[in-house]
Amino acid sequence: MSRAQAGGVPAGPVRTGVTVRVPAKVNVQLAVGAARADGFHDLANVFLAVGLYDEVTATPADELRITCSGPDAAQVPLDTTNLAARAAAALAERYGIDPAVHLHIAKDIPVAGGMAGGSADGAAALVACDALWGTGASRDELLGICAELGSDVPFSLVGGAALGTGRGEKLTPIEVGGTFHWVFAVADGGLSTPAVYGEFDRLTAGTEVPEATASPALLAALRSGDFAALAGALSNDLQPAALSLRPSLAQTLAAGTEAGALAALVSGSGPTTAFLVPDEETAEKVAAALLASGTCRNARVAGSPAPGAHVI
Ligand code: C5P
Repeated sequence: MSRAQAGGVPAGPVRTGVTVRVPAKVNVQLAVGAARADGFHDLANVFLAVGLYDEVTATPADELRITCSGPDAAQVPLDTTNLAARAAAALAERYGIDPAVHLHIAKDIPVAGGMAGGSADGAAALVACDALWGTGASRDELLGICAELGSDVPFSLVGGAALGTGRGEKLTPIEVGGTFHWVFAVADGGLSTPAVYGEFDRLTAGTEVPEATASPALLAALRSGDFAALAGALSNDLQPAALSLRPSLAQTLAAGTEAGALAALVSGSGPTTAFLVPDEETAEKVAAALLASGTCRNARVAGSPAPGAHVI
């Protein structure tokens, strides 16, 4: 506990509403090790934040309440399973505050798409409630709460680019020497992350799963801003599992590559697919071709890296 007083009297200024913008992510490398005793997998997870954003607005209310707007709002749970609700409850409990807050999520990140949309809302809610309640939690405290909420949540807080080890929650920042351009093909329906990891376990059963390590070539490509080198170094160990559960993604990957993408991969556990392109003009062309191919529900263009959760 830092600035807040015991009993929940806020030390900072009391605000009437706080909006936090938070980015989506793509994993430019997702190296997955063998399943651990706790069921999680040790990872070398190279996160890159991309410029597709959710915005979470926190305002005082009689009780904890979540609402959501945006084209895919109907797919977002509005109960206590929502990571935004869990984040608010976790911060309130730590500071002895009643979590009486209305959190409104303006959703633009694909839902259940492998782009950390739910994790993003958790990180954003935490930053918004911290500011609204004047709790003044330190960065390390916020990161600790994020790690309890989920493996990808700490990265949504920090943004930019980072290597996640452990189950992905232990972050080391990575320098990025330029802007990388992407197209994201949004699939119909989501994929469950536990189901994709389960399929990874099934596909690798009886084989020696190598230790997960970050690729030096990939880190060098990020550092130098070299998109051709990055295209050659992208990898996702969950891709075979996602394709096994959703074989039609192979057609989406092929459609984007044929349209001029330098490289294509499944984003995280999918089913969103990510296409690295050399510039914005190619991004628009590839997005149009993906939409015309009928192999995805939507195609979005975004640059990277993007900043982590921040008050606007
Ligand atoms: O940490 P999070 O709640 O996002 O993880 C969701 C699920 O994804 C876990 O329950 C687990 O099945 C799987 N997972 C994993 N190894 C990781 C991260 C997630 O097996 N490093």
